[in-house]
Amino acid sequence: MSQSFGDYQLEIYFSALHGRISDFPMDYATLERRAAHTLPPSLLSYIAGGAGDEATQRRNVDVFAEWGLVPRMLVGASERDMSVTVWGMTLPSPIFMAPVGVAGLVTKDQHGDIAVAQAAAATGVPAMFSTLMQDPLEDVIAHAGETPSFFQLYTPKDRDLAASLVERATHAGYRGIAVTLDTWIPGWRPRDLASGSFPQLRGHALKNYTSDPVFRRILGGKEDPQTVVSTWAQIFGNPLTWADLEWLRSLTDLPIILKGIAHATDARRAIDAGVDGIYCSNHGGRQANGGLTALELLPAVAEACDGRVPVLFDSGVRSGSDVVKAIALGATMVGIGRPYVYGLALDGVPGLIHLLRMFLAEADLLMAVNGYPDFAAVRTNVQRSLGRWT
Ligand code: FNR
Repeated sequence: MSQSFGDYQLEIYFSALHGRISDFPMDYATLERRAAHTLPPSLLSYIAGGAGDEATQRRNVDVFAEWGLVPRMLVGASERDMSVTVWGMTLPSPIFMAPVGVAGLVTKDQHGDIAVAQAAAATGVPAMFSTLMQDPLEDVIAHAGETPSFFQLYTPKDRDLAASLVERATHAGYRGIAVTLDTWIPGWRPRDLASGSFPQLRGHALKNYTSDPVFRRILGGKEDPQTVVSTWAQIFGNPLTWADLEWLRSLTDLPIILKGIAHATDARRAIDAGVDGIYCSNHGGRQANGGLTALELLPAVAEACDGRVPVLFDSGVRSGSDVVKAIALGATMVGIGRPYVYGLALDGVPGLIHLLRMFLAEADLLMAVNGYPDFAAVRTNVQRSLGRWT
């Protein structure tokens, strides 16, 4: 694919000249609405919902309007460099797909994790795959082509199982391990509670466990669905502490990224303990309601990282211009969460490719119009909005 992501608009206009008008929505809100109709209600509420009255989740999105980019003219930004170099690899853009445990369930064939990998291969946008997958991590990465993949670890209570998952991911070719810290216990999610629906408790997305030799040893030969689910539920969440970092570090030479870091002091302490990436996120408002938005927390976290390690960010990104704003406020890489799941739900691999190209094109064209040849220019041209938009 061309590295000028904005060329996607030419493709769309020229196809229309030949009578082929794209069926895909060109704005995210319409895409989300259409995709929602394709999903069964309980899965939709699991994806769309969040913690408490969802105030943090909503504000994660709305807060982007409180920041604005300042156009710079006569720059001639005819070429934009959106690439980022992290952990020795250069990626074509800062965008990545955040781990979403039910991505595997949203395609008709229920092999959505493989579809995500295929879209990653086609677009160069890396995916960070959840521990909660519909296919084993080895089978999924085989579809990602040349695009690097990352593995997200929900650290189980059983240390041998954690070690086994990390070893498998390392061996399979994943390029980094993101350890999610904010979800050793699920937050209070009214939508899911109201329908009594929690996909993993119904046996979904557990393939990385059922394919794992340590998990199977723990099962001790009792592999019926009920035993699998109850064993999984008992073992799933380990409330890690700072004392566990040394052990985590010892599991792999791959970059270790801590997901859910939201405080400058925590970021500094984690880097001092030897982690390789800080991932500022509030889990899209799914875990704790009442928090500040992730975007509000980002500048202080980025400042604490001080260029020592990459800063990953997600929560609330709904467009290409949101991606650029997150970069402006200190992110090195920007994670797309719910939006890519809706792209996948809408039309599988083509729907997801469209969603990613739409975000990439909008970000690239914004940089072109605003006279930002690179992210250094982006970072010096952002300011708080003068009025309230939301
Ligand atoms: C998630 N997220 C998540 N995070 C993680 O580390 N492991 C996981 O398995 C999941 N699963 C998951 C499922 C669903 C349905 C959603 C919506 C999210 C959180 C995800 O990685 C990311 O932090 C948020 O999605 C970002 O917020 P937005 O952009 O979706 O609002």
